[in-house]
Amino acid sequence: MQDFYDVLHSRRDVRTGFRPDPIDDEVLTRVLRAAHAAPSVGFSQPWDFVLVRDPATRERVHTLVDEHRTRYAASLPAARAEALRSIRIEAIRETPLNVVVTADPTRGGRHTLGRHGRPEMGPYSAALAVQNLWLAARAEGLGVGWVSFFGDDGLAELHELLDLPPHVEVVAYLCVGHVDAFPDRPELEGHGWARRRPLEWAVHQEGWGSRGLPGAEPVALLESTVDAVGPVDEAARGAARERLDRMTKPRGALGRVEDVAVTLAGIAATPIPPVPAPAAVAVFAGDHGVHAQGVTPWPQEVTVQMVGNIVGGGAVVNAFARQLGAEVQVVDVGVAADLDPAPGLLPRKVAHGTADMTEGPALTREQARRAVEHGIEVARDLVAAGNRCLLTGDMGIANTTAAATLVCAFTGADPATVTGRGTGIDDATLARKTDVVRRALERHRPDPADPIGVLAAVGGLEHAGLAGFVLGAAALRTPVVLDGVIAGAGALVAAALAPDVPGYCLAGHRSAEPGGRLVLEHLGCTPLLELDMRLGEGTGALLALPVLQGAARAMADVATFDSAGVTDKTDG
Ligand SMILES: Cc1cc2nc3c(=O)[nH]c(=O)nc-3n(C[C@H](O)[C@H](O)[C@H](O)COP(=O)(O)O)c2cc1C
Repeated sequence: MQDFYDVLHSRRDVRTGFRPDPIDDEVLTRVLRAAHAAPSVGFSQPWDFVLVRDPATRERVHTLVDEHRTRYAASLPAARAEALRSIRIEAIRETPLNVVVTADPTRGGRHTLGRHGRPEMGPYSAALAVQNLWLAARAEGLGVGWVSFFGDDGLAELHELLDLPPHVEVVAYLCVGHVDAFPDRPELEGHGWARRRPLEWAVHQEGWGSRGLPGAEPVALLESTVDAVGPVDEAARGAARERLDRMTKPRGALGRVEDVAVTLAGIAATPIPPVPAPAAVAVFAGDHGVHAQGVTPWPQEVTVQMVGNIVGGGAVVNAFARQLGAEVQVVDVGVAADLDPAPGLLPRKVAHGTADMTEGPALTREQARRAVEHGIEVARDLVAAGNRCLLTGDMGIANTTAAATLVCAFTGADPATVTGRGTGIDDATLARKTDVVRRALERHRPDPADPIGVLAAVGGLEHAGLAGFVLGAAALRTPVVLDGVIAGAGALVAAALAPDVPGYCLAGHRSAEPGGRLVLEHLGCTPLLELDMRLGEGTGALLALPVLQGAARAMADVATFDSAGVTDKTDG
């Protein structure tokens, strides 16, 4: 039994370190027999194995894969493309054998048991054959690397090269050969490309959301995340401060950049924090019932139009992200229209917009909680996907009204000092908006000790999502850069749930919205930039990213007086 688990846990996708010696026929037959023993839908055994040894064929396939890799690299944000450069994705020419595993969707006839209505069961079955092959190969000391870098044109050419019948589909292209050693963790993890998700995140009891390993008390995502937020590491902060004083520069000469370095050190719990790259901005989008009160001159459908623009890459957030090498992810938590699926759009809709908070609660408690939990999951996914810095973004016509109300609820400030001109409103609209905020507060009397209740009464779905996003980042000890007043309102909710949250937040800029200043004071965050921006989308957070990256890079790269043999100044 133990041997089986050893094989299972030490199986790796291998792309390097192959020996050129051929694979013994008997060994290969055993491995293929293991593959052929896989379970299959209706016992249809839809797989075939094409063994490719011819160097000329492998050379051609390598070229196809390389072309696709180039196209993939060109589609990546700069920080990802840079990381990809040092990653091998195939060993087509270095392995003596390539195995192409196919699936025949027609095998077994039209009445194949279990495939009726679920055609994908065919290729799933072939994938299980691949897994059996992979494990058996590991037990034989053979490395296997799966190559999926084929576009439609590449697959068509592969079909031709190997004389595959047109009705058969390619499930896997595998590079197989002897290796001296297997890496002890996934190579992509070693490169920082992605991390393993804890099993606890993936096991739900009885229904989605109540997570826990067998035997453990199941916990809800919100509570377990709040529990996981602890204080930043004071010892690391102290050591970083001390190192900054020993670096070859006058003490304190980097001004507030030194504070940023110390903050990052405290978050990462190490004096030399990792450079916060790659970074991803999550733009939470939602609509607002309070729009009906005439708080903005912009029609509500601008939300969905701008979501389309961001997903299509045409907004300011995209331009800034492109320039800074960051990824943009749009999260539909509450847009009032149904959105078509698109790459870069996460469908997490809780409701088609909130209700009008001047007439009743904006959300139910359940909706508010669900949106917060979506935010936590987005943070988890982005961190597990290798991001070392998260940035907040938002899109939602009328969302500064909900933000102002949240800020008042958590800080006790008067609506007149918090409510701002948002996208640029005239005096009459500002007076109406301020009155709307005041009426909502009077109606609901939200209790800051009940943050989910506050969100439900006067919040927006994007504020709730952002609250979860900030909590999720803090729980994973990942720096989160706040954009403007919308993110700030979300961070106030997060801080009310878990008081250590502000230690993980960096304020990208001070928004021109009056509530922005108050939020940052309340959170104890000093804005890094002050550029009179009031766009949202994540733009102000993105522009501050190079400050964080420069601060961390300096901690790693700059010599100390002792190491460089530079004389420090004398006291006085
Ligand atoms: C369906 C599938 C496709 C994959 N495609 C590629 C690929 O094109 N190139 C590559 O280097 N690795 C590929 N891999 C390997 C994964 O990157 C690898 O399984 C993952 O990083 C975990 O590492 P491990 O297999 O060593 O545990 C693929 C794996 C699967 C299951």
